[in-house]
Amino acid sequence: MTEVMEPTLTPDSSAGDATWWRQAAVYQIYPRAFADADGDGIGDLPGITAHVPYLRELGVDAVWLSPFYPSALADGGYDVDDYRDVDPRLGTLDDFDALVAALHDAGIKLIVDLVPNHTSDRHVWFQEALRSPKGSPARDRYIFRDGKGPDGAEPPADWQSVFGGPAWEPVGDGQWYMHHFATEQPDLNWKNPEVRADFLHTLRFWSDRGVDGFRVDVAHGLAKDLGEELPSQAELDATPRDGNHPLWDRDDVHDIYAEWRTVFDSYDPPRTAVAEAWVAADRRARYASAHGLGQAFNFDLLEADFDAGQFREIITFNLELAETSGSSTTWVFSNHDVVRHATRYGLPPRGTGAAGGDHTAEKQGKRWLLSGGTEPVLQRELGLRRARAATLLELALPGSSYLYQGEELGLHEVADIPDESRQDPTFFRSPGIEIGRDGCRVPLPWTREGASFGFGAGPADLPQPDWFGDLAVEVQEQDPASTLALYRRALTLRRELQTDETMEWHDTGRDDVLAFRRPNGWLSVTNFGDDVVDLPAGEVLLTSAPLDGGRLPGATTAWLRV
Ligand code: NOJ
Repeated sequence: MTEVMEPTLTPDSSAGDATWWRQAAVYQIYPRAFADADGDGIGDLPGITAHVPYLRELGVDAVWLSPFYPSALADGGYDVDDYRDVDPRLGTLDDFDALVAALHDAGIKLIVDLVPNHTSDRHVWFQEALRSPKGSPARDRYIFRDGKGPDGAEPPADWQSVFGGPAWEPVGDGQWYMHHFATEQPDLNWKNPEVRADFLHTLRFWSDRGVDGFRVDVAHGLAKDLGEELPSQAELDATPRDGNHPLWDRDDVHDIYAEWRTVFDSYDPPRTAVAEAWVAADRRARYASAHGLGQAFNFDLLEADFDAGQFREIITFNLELAETSGSSTTWVFSNHDVVRHATRYGLPPRGTGAAGGDHTAEKQGKRWLLSGGTEPVLQRELGLRRARAATLLELALPGSSYLYQGEELGLHEVADIPDESRQDPTFFRSPGIEIGRDGCRVPLPWTREGASFGFGAGPADLPQPDWFGDLAVEVQEQDPASTLALYRRALTLRRELQTDETMEWHDTGRDDVLAFRRPNGWLSVTNFGDDVVDLPAGEVLLTSAPLDGGRLPGATTAWLRV
């Protein structure tokens, strides 16, 4: 029996470029860890520009650039000092323009990261707020409250920040400010008209410079509804997130995005946006609405085990969901916030509660990271083999695929970073509980040798392990069986094969083998199990691992033309 998935919206060819994002392969660059042109140990914009030919050859449609703005790096650049400038360590606005031009010449779009929930504590607005008295317009751009107790020495509420530790910080005059994340990331007050107007300015600033779209950080956090009497953390936790929660996923956040949409649509082609919104799946469509941001990340596959049942359910569900929003769906396995998927898949599965699963860990790989990468034992080859199979499956799905730098090299998470080299605030704010995200942010290896394996002339500011050299780009370019070769071939084929945003499940007769058909006779089959299985009849176009006598081994995906 073949189950037919009804089409999600078919791209309108008459709209030309306006729908480029619907099925784009988007490559995330974490600029400080991509390529260091000036040899100071930190990646920079000229480093990216120098590698545009690499991106073109990889075959991606767009780049998403994580924050490159001036920042003290209290949170890897997600603490922004100035939304309309480039960090001097990363380059200048002229370097940014050169990068846009080089990407566009190569036919690659550019999405920049926008961080509207909070500024950094070095932002001129926050500095002004610190100098200004209680009740001043400068303080109203942020969320200030009086402390409790004599002299306001106690926090206004017992809230915990997302990164651990308290979410309120005193400023010395009896008032405290709220920060969802690090202390250096004060939350903005989105009820303030000046805040709203300034972000419209920022959207136009980058759109005028040729930016094609925006990735919106913490999109579900901007709108807040806080009276003078604040709820306790326990009360917040007990409040349903149904659109009326005081802090998260409020319905009125979409008024902000409706305003942004008028800016996006004033450009030709319209600028795009994708929401980072950690909300229940049934609330995601609001962010993906054509009247709002237009697309939203779906992190369901990123949170799943390498398991046919989980994958099938997630894919079916999200394609149906995309129909309700009119957007295309998004797929992602790795980004700068999570343990790389090659590593996750080499660790025991979280499971769905069944015995043996590591389902008690809040994040996959958390226990392994805390042990310095020793416990449980990482099955490196199996993890990578599964990651390659999963990525090939992902790239055959309708919708956009978001790829994270280094996954095309099959990089594993780096677990043994010395404490003194760690940079992620979650490490410092949650001692012994979170190791942080530095292990997926280690600078890329470009050459087998060199002080930083070709990342820059000198050592990288976050140390790279010795094994990075064997996975360098120059090594993999010589090897037709490398992960880099697989990504290049897959992305090229995807461009050739991709048409309508439709798929239908193809019955394989096995629970551990998933197959689906796209238009153009494109069939993707993934064997999640251990047995070697027969392939459906057809021409084999690409496989994530060698076939076994023409049959599909375990942890392998094949693309066929049928
Ligand atoms: C989500 C970003 O992906 C993450 O890296 C950052 O720490 C938080 N938002 C806070 O900006």
